[in-house]
Amino acid sequence: MSLLEARAVNSYYGDSHVLFDIDFDVEPNEVVALLGRNGAGKTTLLHSIMGVIRPRSGRIAFAGEPIEERDPYEIARRDIQLVPETRRIFSTLSVEENLKIAALTSRRPLELGWIYEVFPRLKERRRSRGGNLSGGEQQMLAVARALIRDPKLLMLDEPFEGLAPVIVRDLSRVIRELVRAGRTIVIVEQNVRAALQFAHRVYVLNNGHMVYHGTPKELLANAELTATYLGAAV
Ligand SMILES: Nc1ncnc2c1ncn2[C@@H]1O[C@H](COP(=O)(O)OP(=O)(O)O)[C@@H](O)[C@H]1O
Ligand SMILES: [Mg+2]
Repeated sequence: MSLLEARAVNSYYGDSHVLFDIDFDVEPNEVVALLGRNGAGKTTLLHSIMGVIRPRSGRIAFAGEPIEERDPYEIARRDIQLVPETRRIFSTLSVEENLKIAALTSRRPLELGWIYEVFPRLKERRRSRGGNLSGGEQQMLAVARALIRDPKLLMLDEPFEGLAPVIVRDLSRVIRELVRAGRTIVIVEQNVRAALQFAHRVYVLNNGHMVYHGTPKELLANAELTATYLGAAV
């Protein structure tokens, strides 16, 4: 059984039909990359899974249970954490306070010590206010906040966007550690190469249609597919 199983999902903004009959699966311990050009519908799919947007039709099951009727907070509390494109950290609170608040709302949070092992930079900065962190540190904190709640599925929406190459390397190292630890992750990226270094499987969205799913190797070997749907990004 898949951990996450979406079938024939159709999502709209008002009258505007954005996702068309989407099938999307994530297996336990798997890292899945979700790729596609700007506006393809990647964030909309993550929001449909989280219940932020209610699909107009289709089914979404998590660990065998239907979730398409559940509220986002309920999904977030129990199962799935989304790190959105806009990193919503508390800028007036310290790094450690941000982490502790995130842990409070989880039934079984991870230990702060473990988080600091994975994110040594956050340990150094634990007394700094969120607002005083660099963009890269804020992204680390956003990921750490999601992680401390020990989600069964972690979804990252363009985690590398706007980060300097040296920070991308740092964050890549963190994600690789999470992959080694057997975390189940969905990573959305425009930076195809960056996403494919982790992914076991990859999906490609185009204009709201799922146009490919398979292995990263097969995708990269298919020049026509990458040129058509991912363009200069590869
Ligand atoms: N809040 C919204 N209201 C109306 N249309 C939206 C909204 N958010 C996104 N869209 C539209 O839905 C489509 C998919 O957007 P999005 O899921 O954000 O794409 P991606 O994350 O792949 O860049 C785009 O055409 C976008 O303009
Ligand atoms: Mg997006």
